[in-house]
Order: sequence, then structure tokens, then C-alpha cells
Amino acid sequence: MSKVKTLFVCQSCGYQASKYLGKCPECDKWNSFVEESASDESGSAKHHDQVIRNLKKIDSSTYVDLSESAQRLEEIQFQADHRTPTGILEFDRVLGGGLVKGSLVLVGGEPGIGKSTLMLQMAAHLKGDVLYVSGEESVYQIKSRAERLAASKVNMKILAETNLEKILQTILREKPQVVVVDSVQTLYREEIQSAPGSVSQVRECAALLMHLTKSQHISVFLVGHVTKDGTLAGPKVLEHMVDTVLQFEGDQHHLFRILRATKNRFGSTNEIGIFEMQDKGLIEITNPSELFLSERDVHHSGSVVVPVLEGSRVLLVEVQALASTTSYGMPQRTTSGFDLRRLQLLIAVLEKRARLPLGSSDIFLNIAGGLHVEEPAIDLGVALAISSSYQEKPMDPHTVVLGELGLGGEVRAVSHAERRVREAVKLGFNRVILPKGNLKDLPSMTGVTLVGIRRIDEAMF
Ligand SMILES: Nc1ncnc2c1ncn2[C@@H]1O[C@H](COP(=O)(O)OP(=O)(O)O)[C@@H](O)[C@H]1O
Ligand SMILES: [Mg+2]
Repeated sequence: MSKVKTLFVCQSCGYQASKYLGKCPECDKWNSFVEESASDESGSAKHHDQVIRNLKKIDSSTYVDLSESAQRLEEIQFQADHRTPTGILEFDRVLGGGLVKGSLVLVGGEPGIGKSTLMLQMAAHLKGDVLYVSGEESVYQIKSRAERLAASKVNMKILAETNLEKILQTILREKPQVVVVDSVQTLYREEIQSAPGSVSQVRECAALLMHLTKSQHISVFLVGHVTKDGTLAGPKVLEHMVDTVLQFEGDQHHLFRILRATKNRFGSTNEIGIFEMQDKGLIEITNPSELFLSERDVHHSGSVVVPVLEGSRVLLVEVQALASTTSYGMPQRTTSGFDLRRLQLLIAVLEKRARLPLGSSDIFLNIAGGLHVEEPAIDLGVALAISSSYQEKPMDPHTVVLGELGLGGEVRAVSHAERRVREAVKLGFNRVILPKGNLKDLPSMTGVTLVGIRRIDEAMF
């Protein structure tokens, strides 16, 4: 009989303490500790091995012993074809080229963003050998979603269950190639007394699923909810355990959905997949720049187009700025899709180095389309959008801007300038304002004027 101990666990990051703490020393969150109880044994790899071995007695499948002795590197047989493309190109791109056998993938996102839809569409594309475990919806609800997505004839099995042991048994019996667990917060193990969704439950269930994934050589997707303030237990705690973390973003009122890998043991973490949510499900956006720019009003001041790099591709995004006279003592600075502190820095550079008196202007900055851009190559575009709005002079509609700004007002070279310029030309732009430092590396191109600048004041209009 294992001993049951009481712990206080931070529901945000999983930090454990023996007494209640007001503020978490790990993630600095207040009031995040909840009392949980866990048996001494749960959590250990040995224990997980035992649990699966016990289940295996019910069905003696091909259980691979993970505790086997060390192997010589040269003797390990590498399987080159260990990736299975799902057929959804945007999804495969983010995964790093397709599903990897023996991998545990966490798909996180706010409720309603489209996680279940994405998983069902992936299952439909894989055409068979998929077990969809739903802890949130009944089999009828899933069937009705499948009908809406025109995927109701797909060869897959649905299990509405939240008891982890029963789920593991089904996986061992049915031997699917791909398992979707929707969602990890609904799973529970009887021997852990905390409620489903608590850190102890989520961690234990995920650890067991991880063990099964590796030993059975299958691909498992765990769906996890995160709320806006990140208070719900789960995904944060799981991030260290799983192989890949996919984040599904975009606000519910917006049509775009962006899938991003924030951790990937099998691929790059820079790639993004872009989808549009429609009645019949998620539609892949293969040329996002066109869509991002489709609603642009070229006659308004404060709008500048910037070619940004997202993973392996270039996207053209519209930076919108609005500078208006403040009605209060303190001017407001608000951003959407851009770092607020970076905006404040760029405003200071504009004031000091370009002599633009912004001290009594409210400044709002928005990256159109719901995209979040962090790369510094957008700096010059942001600065020019603000200046365009402040001076009420619209930017030439066929011009794109790229460049990083230094504190001295110098415009610094950016990476992959040629690819960015080519993408802009492809979409009909014929003038590029870019750092002088990038000019010498660019080949001569027809149909486009390249304007190289060294300092921010040279770009002002
Ligand atoms: N009957 C419907 N018709 C059209 N769109 C729907 C319908 N039901 C749900 N949706 C869309 O699907 C979204 C929910 O997707 P879902 O995959 O269930 O999200 P999650 O699993 O992330 O909570 C909703 O926000 C809505 O946009
Ligand atoms: Mg769902």
C-alpha cells in the first residue's frame, strides 16, 4: 500500500511545496497554490512501467520494454520513413514534415479556437488507424462535427472516456497508429485523489501516455486548454514532458488561426501554419500575404507593408499606426500583435533622432490579420507608419519597408533581404526602402527600385 502525501501545487507551473504559499517562487503567480494529494509511487518511471505491464496482462500485445540495456549507436537501425505526412500541408510544415512515430504532441489553445476541429480533420486525412478519445464531447457530438466537416465516412474509432486506465487498455487492444486525446484536462487516474485537470492528475496521465507512446511506437496528440491568463493547470506543466508543443492562436472573432510550434524535438520551432475557420472546418491558407493585405486601404495614412520572416517563408503584413492628439495628461500607447516596450523604444528613437514631437500624441499600433510579429526587421516599418499617421501623409501603396532600428537612429541590415524583396515584387510592389547595409548583397532586379538608407531621418517624409 503506497503512502498518500499532501502537497501544495502551483496550478500554473506545477511547482510543489509542502505548505501553502501565497506567491509561487517559480513563476511569480499569486494565489496559484492548491492542495493536492499524490501517492508516493505515482510519478516514477518504474511505477508507470508497472501500470502498463498490468494492463498488458489483459491483452498481451507487442510491448516494448523500455528498460532494456544500452545499445551501441552504430547498431541502432534508423528508420528513414518514420514521418507520415498528414496531407494538411500547413499542419505538416509546423510538425516538421509530418507525424513522427513514437512522439507525444501537445496541442494547446484557448477553448473554441478549433483544436478539436483540427484533430478531426487530421484524422480524416490520415484515413484510418486513428483512435479519437474524447473526454469532453459525446460520440454523437463528434459525429455531428464530422458530418459538418464532411468527414463522417472516415475510418476511425471514437471512444468517449476519461478514465485513463480504460483508455490505455483500449489503445493496447485496438493498436491504433495515431491517438488523439481531447482533452488532457478531463483525464483522471483513480489512485490520484485530486480532481481531473489538477496538476497531479494532468502530469501523471501525461507521463503514462508518454510511456505508452514510446513503448508502443505510436503517435499521440494531447489536446490541452489554456485560458487567456494561463491559470488553468495543464499545458504549462506538460511542456517539459512532451516532444512537441503546438500552440493554436488567433482570436475567436477573427477568422485566421495560426498554428505555431513552440517546442519541437523533430523540427524547427519557427514554422507557422495559417488557417481560416469556416463552416466546413479549417481551410489552409497557402498564400497568406494576399489575404493579409486584401483589406488594406491604401489611401489612409499610417499604413505600411513589411515583409516579415515567419519560419521558412516570407509574409507581407500591414502595420497600422494611429497617432492622435491626447486628451489626457499621459499619452496612451497601445499595441496589438507587437511588443509594447519595443513600440515605446521606437517612439523615443523617432522623437530624438528624427525630431518627431510625439510627446503629446496617443499612439496605437496594430499588425493587421491577427499576426504577432517579433522580429526586429519590422522596426523601420513601424516607425514609418507612426510618422505617416502623425503627418497625415499616406505611404506610397507600392512600397514595402524593412530594417532594424538602433537607438542611435541607425538602420541596421536584416537577414534574408533578397527573399523578402522577391516576395514583395511577386505581390506587385515596385519600391523597397531597406537598410543600405543590405544593398550590396542584393543582385540587380528588374521592376523594383531599391532605396537604401542609413539613418531613420533619411526615410522620413
Ligand atoms: N455548427 C457550427 N457551424 C460553424 N462553425 C462552427 C460550428 N460549431 C463550431 N463551429 C466553429 O468551431 C469552433 C470551435 O471549434 P472546436 O474545434 O470545438 O474548438 P476547441 O476544440 O478548440 O474548443 C467555434 O469557435 C466555431 O468557430
Ligand atoms: Mg474541443
